[in-house]
Parts: sequence; C-alpha cells; structure tokens
Amino acid sequence: MMQRCLSLARQALGKTAPNPLVGSVVVKDGRIVGEGFHPGAGQPHAEVFALRQAGEQARGATIYVSLEPCNHYGRTPPCSEAVVKAGVARAIVGMVDPNPKVAGGGIARLREAGIEVIVGVEEEACRQLNEAFIHRILHHRPFGILKYAMTLDGKIATTTGHSAWVTGEDARKAVHQLRSACDAVIVGGNTVRSDNPQLTSHRTDIPNPLRVVMSRTLDLPENARLWQTEEAPTLVCTEAGVKPEFQQRLRDLGVETIELESVTPAGVMELLYDRGSLSVLWECGGTLAARAIADRSVQKVIAFIAPKIVGGKIAPSPVSDLGLETMPEALNLEHARWYAVGKDIAIEGYLSE
Ligand SMILES: NC(=O)c1ccc[n+]([C@@H]2O[C@H](COP(=O)([O-])OP(=O)(O)OC[C@H]3O[C@@H](n4cnc5c(N)ncnc54)[C@H](OP(=O)(O)O)[C@@H]3O)[C@@H](O)[C@H]2O)c1
Ligand SMILES: [Zn+2]
Repeated sequence: MMQRCLSLARQALGKTAPNPLVGSVVVKDGRIVGEGFHPGAGQPHAEVFALRQAGEQARGATIYVSLEPCNHYGRTPPCSEAVVKAGVARAIVGMVDPNPKVAGGGIARLREAGIEVIVGVEEEACRQLNEAFIHRILHHRPFGILKYAMTLDGKIATTTGHSAWVTGEDARKAVHQLRSACDAVIVGGNTVRSDNPQLTSHRTDIPNPLRVVMSRTLDLPENARLWQTEEAPTLVCTEAGVKPEFQQRLRDLGVETIELESVTPAGVMELLYDRGSLSVLWECGGTLAARAIADRSVQKVIAFIAPKIVGGKIAPSPVSDLGLETMPEALNLEHARWYAVGKDIAIEGYLSE
C-alpha cells in the first residue's frame, strides 16, 4: 500500500515545488476505497483527496500516507484534522516531516485523537522520492544534481567541442525524464554557444523545467533554441550592466534576464531557492560543473557513460579543475550504484555534505 502511495505521488513529479510529493491510500476491509496525491502548491494535500474519495467508508478504515500529515494552517487546513474528522482507526505513515520545527506534530495529533499510528513503513523509498524536498527544508537550498554524458575515455565533447551525441537514444530519453522531474536546469554560456541546446522534456505529457543560462559576458548567439520560450521559460543570469541592448532583445523574446552582483553557482541556487525550486539539474560543461561542486551546489551526480572512445588531449572532460593534487583527495560518491540504460551505463551517487 505504501508503494501504491509512492506511485500515486510520482504522478506529480516536477509539479509540486516547493511542496513535497505525497500519495495516500484509504483501505477498508483489505480493499482500496480512496486514493490521492498532492498535485501542486495551493492545491489540496494527498490525504484530502483520498478521504474525499473514500467518503463514509473512511470510518474505521486505515489511511496510508507517504509523509506525515501536516498539522498547521497553511494554504489549506491541517490534514491531521481531516484524518481525525473522517474517523479512521489507523494511520500508516511513511516518514516523519523533515522540518525539525514541525516533525512529529501531525503524528502526535492523530495519537491524541485515539488513532493507532505506525511510522516508518517503506521509509527509505519515501525519503528517496523526496530527497530534494528534504534537502531544501534542511539546508535552505535546492537539491543540485550534476548530470553529464561522457565517452569511455572521459570526454564530454570532441577537441572541436562537438558533443551530439555522446550517448544513445535510451540515455537521452532518461535525461528528458530527469529534466521533467527537476524545477530548473542550468548551463553556462559555452554550452549555449557550442551545443545550442533545447533542454526541454521533449514530451507534452510531462512538465518542462525553467531553463537557466549563466553567462558573465552575454556573448551569446542572437538566435538560440533557448530563446524560444513558447514551450518552456528561460532565465539568463548575468552581471550588472552587461550588454543592455542584448538583454532587451532577450526580454522582447520573452526571456527573463537578471543581473546578479556576481554570477556564481551558489548565488544562482539561492535565487532558485527563493523561487521555490526543489531540484536543480546542472547540465553544464566541466568549467561550470567544477565551480558548482566547489560551491556545494551539487549534492548528487548522475554520469552516463557510453562504450565509445573519442580521444583528444584537449577534449573537455565533465569536471575541470577542483584543485586536488593526490588521488586520496578525490570526492567519493556515497551510496553509489550503476545500471544499464540501453547500450550505455549510468553511475549515480551522492557527494557528502
Ligand atoms: N556531454 C555533456 O554532458 C555535456 C553537457 C554540457 C556541455 N558539454 C560540452 O561542454 C563544453 C562546454 O564546457 P564549459 O565547461 O565551458 O561549459 P559551460 O556550461 O558553458 O560553462 C562555462 C561558462 O559558464 C559561464 N559562467 C557563468 N558564471 C560562471 C562561473 N561562476 N564560473 C564559471 N563559468 C561561469 C561562462 O559563460 P560566458 O563565457 O558566456 O560568460 C562560462 O564560459 C562544450 O563543448 C559542450 O559541448 C557537454
Ligand atoms: Zn496536509
């Protein structure tokens, strides 16, 4: 049942920021009588939909919910009250609210009302689904994911900067899906100049992220796919006073431009936090990727590795200089795992805080 909650929750992937992904199921006599998930900020929470569908059958039933029911008046009344009012007998909670200020409050309210509460069912899976939300709550920054595609000899492009495509179709489809689960994707000026990327999900049934370009020089093409904003919005971050006419041209095309005191990964992550982003995908080249890692703007790395060799002494690699001199200084990925994606493989893991 908790797995069912998680698959319901996943239906809103990429749509809930700054809220978490939550699913809920109401079970009576071994049968599902109500289901729901949180579709997005400002809309009812998962439990409300599940209880609504269950109606009178909720009385004496068991409610499953992947995240502790909220216990405060926000944009919607507290779900703990809705659960109490519906008369359920048992609540099975996937994980406690990650916000230390409110953690346990919803569970305590249910117990106080005489409801039997079991906490921590499929907890690892619940935490994994909301890893970005948890990071946002605890660190007041979005969760940064660095994704790149490289050849077996560690190149993300040829010596001329050509990079279409490193990996096969399956890996590219996986990236489209990853984008749609993120609230923003970031590239630097060089990637726009050399790749003219689109950075969309390439699908109409899943959302597109905000596309962010970091460029100090604004030495960017007049025409670029990223300046076409009908499908997805684009934000260009630059420094104060850089090329005002070009900025105006971008704005005329519907591209938002922002002048920052200094264009750094941490500064852009702060801006995206203020805009409610949960997860941010770094799809940049090695220069910016190294800055983002050094700035602690990357929490997770997903590398797609293609079984091909392109060679080249100056062909770019995924992460440029980090200032490390000996192998023991290497950044080790924690909880690393690998899996096949078509004819390529993916390795992913977490950088320690
Ligand atoms: N295979 C892959 O997964 C993949 C993905 C992305 C890119 N690439 C390849 O990577 C190459 C480009 O690599 P790159 O490292 O130059 O990538 P990049 O993503 O363009 O990042 C570098 C650019 O970011 C901008 N920037 C803004 N603030 C910065 C800061 N604080 N620190 C550093 N840069 C900042 C600068 O743009 P301005 O110069 O405009 O100021 C700088 O030139 C291309 O050949 C591209 O094909 C491959
Ligand atoms: Zn709630």
